[in-house]
Amino acid sequence: MLAPLLLLLQLAAAAFSPLALALPLNDAETRQQDLVRAAASVLDGSSSSLVANPHTPAHTLPSLSYAPGVNDDLYIQLTRSLPGILDNAIRITTHSWELGTLTEVLIEVYNPELSPFGFLPAAWNATSLPNLPLTVVNITAQQLASYDWSGAPGPSTTNLVPLLSSSTPRPLVDGAGSLGDPASLGPAAWITANFADQVRVLNGSGVSGLHSDAAYAWAVGNQLAALYNGPRADNGTISQRDSEFQLWSDMGYMIPPFLAYLGLTTNNATLLGDALTQWSLESSALLDPSANLYRHVHYWDTGFWLTGNGWMLSGLVRVLASIAKSPYAAQFKDQTDAAARTAANVFTALFNALDNSGLIATYVGATDGTAALTDSTGTTAVVGAFYRFLVLRPDLATPLKSKADIAFRGVVAKINSDNWLTAVVDPQGTNGFLRNDAANTRSPEGQSLLGALWAARTAAGQ
Ligand SMILES: *[C@@H]1O[C@H](CO)[C@@H](O)[C@H](O)[C@H]1NC(C)=O
Ligand SMILES: *[C@@H]1O[C@H](CO)[C@@H](O)[C@H](O)[C@H]1NC(C)=O
Ligand SMILES: *[C@@H]1O[C@H](CO)[C@@H](O)[C@H](O)[C@H]1NC(C)=O
Ligand SMILES: *[C@@H]1O[C@H](CO)[C@@H](O)[C@H](O)[C@H]1NC(C)=O
Ligand SMILES: *[C@@H]1O[C@H](CO)[C@@H](O)[C@H](O)[C@H]1NC(C)=O
Repeated sequence: MLAPLLLLLQLAAAAFSPLALALPLNDAETRQQDLVRAAASVLDGSSSSLVANPHTPAHTLPSLSYAPGVNDDLYIQLTRSLPGILDNAIRITTHSWELGTLTEVLIEVYNPELSPFGFLPAAWNATSLPNLPLTVVNITAQQLASYDWSGAPGPSTTNLVPLLSSSTPRPLVDGAGSLGDPASLGPAAWITANFADQVRVLNGSGVSGLHSDAAYAWAVGNQLAALYNGPRADNGTISQRDSEFQLWSDMGYMIPPFLAYLGLTTNNATLLGDALTQWSLESSALLDPSANLYRHVHYWDTGFWLTGNGWMLSGLVRVLASIAKSPYAAQFKDQTDAAARTAANVFTALFNALDNSGLIATYVGATDGTAALTDSTGTTAVVGAFYRFLVLRPDLATPLKSKADIAFRGVVAKINSDNWLTAVVDPQGTNGFLRNDAANTRSPEGQSLLGALWAARTAAGQ
């Protein structure tokens, strides 16, 4: 009953949108593809002509071009507005998990060759990277401005990997009681460790006060040790909170992707395996196998909070991509298969819950009250994860693509003319993790996750 109506709405929107008529679809390459190709060719020692404007400054994020294969006017609209959307994200992002999400997403959008999805080992190990991730390095450096650096190694320490084996557990930033959330800034800090020395010798980079590669690497090692030394369940599941063992679906994005990224960049199968094992343990604990949905917190918020389902799925695709891009994919095949099958069931349950505007309720399955209102942030997270899943596991994901495309339109329609995502839940959970439209809530992670959505669909190219 629903589908034909949505199709009609889609056709109507496509036919009447002036944007669809105004923009040529033959404008060949995406900026992402340009950047990856540029990085690859420079590293090959061949042409660098594609790198016209190599370094990306903050607060004036460059414009993007769209993938020509994605035939949806709202995708083109999102391509145009994304730099403004991410500028807004930068302005309101303050908490540890928001910083983690923002920096992961900025890498996906502007340095895909450093993200797990488009990872190029030669870019990671380049001695002179043509497109340095200045915005992410800058944000990370500012967040670590008051870090206690006493005990850090000297700047001449060039072998960074051993610094990951720290014996001084300490989070990168204050997690306000969370063990997992600060770890989400780990990939950005590790990227900073890898490139700080290159940024420091640039003139006019706009990034000041940087410490050395070695200092940041040491801080990442401290963060890893903090995570590994926190509370655990008997079966080894790392806790999301630092005072006692707690399970939150949020942790699917905060903890495993950090371990996976360290594993990918250092060719460490132990860390990649830990990432997948932690995700699988979290999934085993929080999944309701009859609903195929994740509970939010295992004992005090046991509903199927949509954003939490988005966190679990967004975290898994990062882990799966990290393993797929590593030399160890074959070794983990059975475990990645099992995780991917679980995720396919969760995506199915979530897309079965789309309403006729293409959005999903704040608590999936809720039928009345605020919990039943749709949430744009959670829907964005789910759909963004889906387009990554489509590339990683087309065998499992393709049957869900048409519903995902409807949800994509649903969330883009919720972005207002000032580039804010509207109808979002309060990410602080001040009065529950619910919408409070009267308060004009803005969501730092919702803003950022629109970038993840865009990068995922652009990479999917359909
Ligand atoms: C670094 O951050 C500062 C403070 O937000 C900002 O003024 C500056 O433009 C940023 N530079 C870059 C290159 O991102
Ligand atoms: C930066 O400027 C200094 C002083 O003008 C110059 O010596 C140095 O070579 C420049 N570095 C780069 C990387 O251009
Ligand atoms: C980068 O180089 C270091 C040092 O040779 C190496 O340990 C690491 O595995 C390399 N990373 C990748 C992703 O190739
Ligand atoms: C992999 O990483 C872990 C955690 O940092 C470390 O203990 C281990 O020695 C590393 N393994 C290799 C082969 O480098
Ligand atoms: C691991 O431990 C958690 C917490 O006790 C539990 O909920 C979960 O089901 C366990 N998972 C497995 C696979 O044993």
